[in-house]
Amino acid sequence: MIPILKLAPLLFSSALVTAQSADIRETVGPLSSIPDKTSVKVCDITDYGAQADGATDISSALNDAFTDCSAGGVVVVPSGDYALATGTGTDGGNMIFVEHGTDFEMFSSTGKGAMQGNGYVFHNEGSLDGPRLLRTYEMTNFSIHDFALVDSPAFHLSMDTCSSGDVYNMAIRGGDLGGLDGIDVWSTDMWIHDVMVTDKDECVTVKSPSHNILVENIYCNWSGGCAMGSLGEDTDISDITYKNVYTWTSNQMYMIKSNGGSGTVANVVLENFIGHGNAYSLDIDQYWSSMDPLDGVGVQLNNIKVMNWTGTEADGLERGPIKVMCADGAPCTGIEITDFAMWTETGDSQWYSCQSAYTDSTPEFCLRDGSDAMAYEATPTTTTLAPTGHEAPKMPDDLATHSWGTTASIPIPTLPASYFPGVALYSSLAGAFSAPASPLISSISPVQLCKA
Ligand SMILES: *[C@@H]1O[C@H](CO)[C@@H](O)[C@H](O)[C@H]1NC(C)=O
Ligand SMILES: *[C@@H]1O[C@H](CO)[C@@H](O)[C@H](O)[C@H]1NC(C)=O
Ligand SMILES: *[C@@H]1O[C@H](CO)[C@@H](O)[C@H](O)[C@H]1NC(C)=O
Repeated sequence: MIPILKLAPLLFSSALVTAQSADIRETVGPLSSIPDKTSVKVCDITDYGAQADGATDISSALNDAFTDCSAGGVVVVPSGDYALATGTGTDGGNMIFVEHGTDFEMFSSTGKGAMQGNGYVFHNEGSLDGPRLLRTYEMTNFSIHDFALVDSPAFHLSMDTCSSGDVYNMAIRGGDLGGLDGIDVWSTDMWIHDVMVTDKDECVTVKSPSHNILVENIYCNWSGGCAMGSLGEDTDISDITYKNVYTWTSNQMYMIKSNGGSGTVANVVLENFIGHGNAYSLDIDQYWSSMDPLDGVGVQLNNIKVMNWTGTEADGLERGPIKVMCADGAPCTGIEITDFAMWTETGDSQWYSCQSAYTDSTPEFCLRDGSDAMAYEATPTTTTLAPTGHEAPKMPDDLATHSWGTTASIPIPTLPASYFPGVALYSSLAGAFSAPASPLISSISPVQLCKA
């Protein structure tokens, strides 16, 4: 028996709000090990009526197995193709929704498991109304790792009001359409690392409210790119770090997006970014035209450090690598852009443009000295000098010519061995040392999706 998806126990207890940890890497994740949980109880979904025939709906079997193991244990989905036909929740719902639990772990023990959403069946008809693949709500001390989320009818993974969780060794591959976000998180004390996203929308995006989140070793392989937002009224985001982010043929390398609104974003580090072939690179846009203006003077951005960005953008004269458009009603303060060397792939010039953006250090690029923090108009400066040291490596797996479409089934990817040039995984792939002789690719295939 080769288990492909194990859902470790949901011990139902009230969610605790944890204090922010000094080193998030040490404190997130489940509280007990799989062997410990296995010794308590094992609930194999095939003992609850699930059949690996790719056609019979396993929802009741999955729920029954969960309930039976909810006081502690491991829910096992053995190797095979299973169909999930019943979602839960509002709007399009969710195929798997996990809430109000602690000490939870969901992973594929061979690293070859996947949830195949068959979203193309919806997208082919121009519909984005299908379910999301996976959603967690008010979960604490948990992990999601070592499997793929493929072709979701809507978002792939959303984490809402969770804490002390980590997500790692994941490949997310969606259709070539807006609205098929990779990972969206609004939570506290989270570590998201070693994740690859191919889609046409959000790669790994932080929303409000969020505190103390570390996102690192991220490969945005033909996606919208990583972002923060969109930010609305009473935005409350602090202590967010993105580190080692590789972005290829995406809309942007990092975007903070809002239009009006209120509240604050404070203490953000965007460090070690490499980009190639992207439209925008650093793109702070507090007049984002894809969003209807909200009430409020604008979200106050404070202490945003952008460090060590290299690579190239698609066309630096059309969309320059630094665009920092802050709200005139709430000028940005403490913006720092250092070791930033990006150059254009088209033509021989590029621009930097800032609006109402202030720095506390030496005003570089288009930033202004932070003493008065008054609104000022966008002031693009154009350069024909390629910055020294902009050359940056590429990933061997960059999509060569096209992203995945919307009309045909999207193949399940294998998990990459690295998500950023020269950087190894934090945690070795599940099953890396115990892979079966002829590994089976397995999936949960929602063939018929019901709207809740
Ligand atoms: C979850 O982990 C945090 C440390 O990150 C700890 O303080 C908290 O007590 C844990 N929660 C539970 C329910 O054990
Ligand atoms: C800058 O980023 C590159 C990867 O692009 C990395 O190799 C290098 O160590 C980083 N430099 C610093 C000072 O962190
Ligand atoms: C990224 O693109 C490459 C090249 O097509 C592909 O092999 C790889 O699987 C893609 N990654 C994902 C997660 O789809």
